Amino acid sequence: TELAIADRTLPAGDRITDDELRTRCARPAFGRVLTEHMVSLRWTVDRGWHDAEVVPYGPLSVDPAMVGLHYGQVVFEGMKAFRHADGHAVLFRPHDHGARFADSARRLAMPELPVDTFVAAARALVRADERWVPFEPARSLYLRPIMFATDPVLALAPGREYRFLLLAMVTENFFGADSPPVSVWASTRYSRAAPGGTGGAKCAGNYAPAFLAQQEAAEHGCQQVVWLDAAEHRWVEEMGGMNIFWVHVQGEETTLVTPPLTGTLLPGVTRRSLLTLARDEGFRVEERPVALDDWQRLTETGAFAEAFACGTAAAVTPIGRVVAEGREWTVGDGTAGPVSARMRTALTDVQRGLVPDRHGWLVNA
Ligand code: COI
Repeated sequence: TELAIADRTLPAGDRITDDELRTRCARPAFGRVLTEHMVSLRWTVDRGWHDAEVVPYGPLSVDPAMVGLHYGQVVFEGMKAFRHADGHAVLFRPHDHGARFADSARRLAMPELPVDTFVAAARALVRADERWVPFEPARSLYLRPIMFATDPVLALAPGREYRFLLLAMVTENFFGADSPPVSVWASTRYSRAAPGGTGGAKCAGNYAPAFLAQQEAAEHGCQQVVWLDAAEHRWVEEMGGMNIFWVHVQGEETTLVTPPLTGTLLPGVTRRSLLTLARDEGFRVEERPVALDDWQRLTETGAFAEAFACGTAAAVTPIGRVVAEGREWTVGDGTAGPVSARMRTALTDVQRGLVPDRHGWLVNA
């Protein structure tokens, strides 16, 4: 039986006006334009999941000694809702995001939120903040589910009380309005994830340690980090907050190549969607390890014609330039390539309902 989500949304008179809504959404830099509501659930050993409600967005009261804050028992997700031309809002693959959220929770010894409850929460929030789902085709509503241990026990042990929250924000493209090709910095100094670690889970602790490498990238004029394997700093794994693909051209045949899910990189929902869509488009796909050296060499021979980043926030973003310690190279001619553009369109067309949803990825809010 599905948990009922209580409706404690703001009365119509207390919501922001249409004018204010337009002003706040004028230039929605990623992560800055949050909506008026959030979903909240609690979990305790005795009661399991309970107190599900849609409430006004606002500060929390938490115990300063809470486990999540001190020991990082925090997992999150990122997924999107889109407005279709007929006006209704849809969620893109919410069950897949819910399943990954449960996988991440398991890795951090946290209780799993049932996928149906996760999806019901997402639908409830999109309905409550329906006004915030953008009409502009380049925009969407980004949903941020998060779970953390709340009990105030500084003994080093998993929490026995948890909070789930679901926030929403208005987004445009992660890298700016026209999604230009990005430059990437291959980090040989830092590592993101090691075998047996949490690289395959979407936990908060994977992200802050990347900030320093991200700063290093910025110092080299790059917008993103490319992570290499921790043991040899040789194999490309993923980027700061997204997966990576190469476009391998051999005569008439084009193959989309992406690193295999070894446990040290995030199993992206967009990554998986693109593997499916690439086959639909008539491309071959291959999940195989690619060394940074091979990326350079195959770019120079012209075989790796394009490369792109993909993720919920990034959608499909072409990579124009790679910089590493002591070397750099341009990918293709440094501009967005045709295959990246085609994959971006293939993905966003499904999300926006411009083509039939052949794989059953959309769920009405
Ligand atoms: C996403 O693409 O949803 C991400 O989680 C990337 C980042 C903004 C954290």
